[in-house]
Amino acid sequence: MLSVGKILVTRSLPGSALEHLRERGYRVEVHEGLFLSREDLLKKVEGAIGLIPTVEDRVDAEVMDRAPGLKVIACYSVGVDHVDLEAAKARGIRVTHTPGVLTEATADLTLALLLAVARRVAEGVDYARKGLWQAWHPELLLGMDLEGATLGIVGMGRIGQAVAKRAEAFGMRVVYTGRTPKPLPYPYLSLEALLATSDIVSLHTPLTLETHRLMNRERLFAMKPGSILINTARGGLVDTEALVEALRGHLFGAGLDVTDPEPLPRGHPLYALPNAVITPHIGSAGRRTRERMAEMAVENLLAVLEGREPPNPVV
Ligand code: DGY
Repeated sequence: MLSVGKILVTRSLPGSALEHLRERGYRVEVHEGLFLSREDLLKKVEGAIGLIPTVEDRVDAEVMDRAPGLKVIACYSVGVDHVDLEAAKARGIRVTHTPGVLTEATADLTLALLLAVARRVAEGVDYARKGLWQAWHPELLLGMDLEGATLGIVGMGRIGQAVAKRAEAFGMRVVYTGRTPKPLPYPYLSLEALLATSDIVSLHTPLTLETHRLMNRERLFAMKPGSILINTARGGLVDTEALVEALRGHLFGAGLDVTDPEPLPRGHPLYALPNAVITPHIGSAGRRTRERMAEMAVENLLAVLEGREPPNPVV
């Protein structure tokens, strides 16, 4: 079949969504492998009319200018902070994303981290593996009780609300902050009041110029002594250096699925802290979720290429 255009997919995707593109005659170039260097991205994007990038790829004006025929950037993510939206807008390139589909998976992982930190699961696993478990003791690995604890959610969008629902099932009291109060059955607080009163603070806000380092040194130390920070949103929301300091005494612990820098380099001080539980950005990594994200990205991409309004536009 004669190709009707090149689509660059920057990583292999689970499921069979890309077949829809091939069936329609698109030449789908999938970059296999864990890494795609900047240089390779710039080379591979040449001649593409569609691009499906992941959160690993910085898609800026330089990338866009390498592919003058580029019509659509269909992000394989809900977050779009890796794409220069202004540059896309200026070039008439549509940008889409995958909202909704990863809400439950990300909320599940948030709770997994919350439980792991509060009940010192990672430390317990380590303790048992190292052969240190020799007897039951009333004071061994004491953690935070969740029943009655206050969970402060920063950013009450879809994922924040899904986390709130789960937290209620654990008997937690939910409070939240965000740009504006919503008609929800939880108290709305200022960020400052939320930090001062929450036993656990969980971040669910997008990374923008305004939210970059939202949790700076001052705010980390304004959190209740002995409280927990969970971040499954974006690493750039937190001042990492200040967090390391806060974890050395002020905070009970932190659960991080995202970091700044990301990935966190080998030997980073955070890895040495037993009260930091770190996972490698796997919030949406349920198989069904990831397959559905691929389908959404393809639906969005096809819509633009076929002259229809995409279901999930950003730009
Ligand atoms: C997203 O979608 O933004 C996540 O970070 C990756 O799934």
